[in-house]
Amino acid sequence: MSVLIAPSILSADFAALGEAIAAVQRGGADLIHVDVMDGHFVPNITIGVPVVKSIKRVARVPLDVHLMIQDPDRYIDAFADAGAGMISVHVEVLPHLHRTVHAIKALGAKAGVVLNPSTPVHSLTDIAADVDFVLVMSVNPGFGGQTFIAHCESKVREVRALLDAAGSRAPIEIDGGIDRTNIARVVAAGARILVAGNAIFGTGDAEQATRELKAAALSALAATTAR
Ligand code: DX5
Ligand code: ZN
Repeated sequence: MSVLIAPSILSADFAALGEAIAAVQRGGADLIHVDVMDGHFVPNITIGVPVVKSIKRVARVPLDVHLMIQDPDRYIDAFADAGAGMISVHVEVLPHLHRTVHAIKALGAKAGVVLNPSTPVHSLTDIAADVDFVLVMSVNPGFGGQTFIAHCESKVREVRALLDAAGSRAPIEIDGGIDRTNIARVVAAGARILVAGNAIFGTGDAEQATRELKAAALSALAATTAR
């Protein structure tokens, strides 16, 4: 698999989401990452189902919906109906993760599971063969613009090893503090879906920032596979 760039609209101007999405698509975005927060699982409240439905009308690439909410089971139908192509849920809040993952798949979306920085990799052991992707958080979720937690680079390698051992080719997504200073390292570690919010929308030119991050990711991938 190649490497995909998923701009997080959390750092975009919410009064102009359509233009933000158009800009990153012109820059080569492969996905649009949508951060859904409920003020319970994380200390912030952001986007809900109606916004996902609206941006689905203007997005040409799949919506990657990251649910940072206390009770994802209650809302996955609604997000799938609203047009989410990928839905990821946190292992920290789900006692019946296997059921949830299969419920997402039955709705026709790709199912991802997310690990917070302090959640051990081994919590994936019994779900590894079922997931479509794994999201490794490289900041504590809740806000854009935080600093990448260095330990998460080796965590990506551990998750890749665990997936490989389970016979799974599911890609690893990484989310939090990704920018041009660490993108090559996380790609070398095995990340293949790269979320970036501040590094794209915190610049004056989201289109150009997307283009540059994608170029950096693709050259890091070429260097990794050439080895
Ligand atoms: C953090 C969110 C991230 C965040 C990424 O809670 O899940 O998707 O918006 O933003 P940056 O790239 O600014 O860390
Ligand atoms: Zn996210």
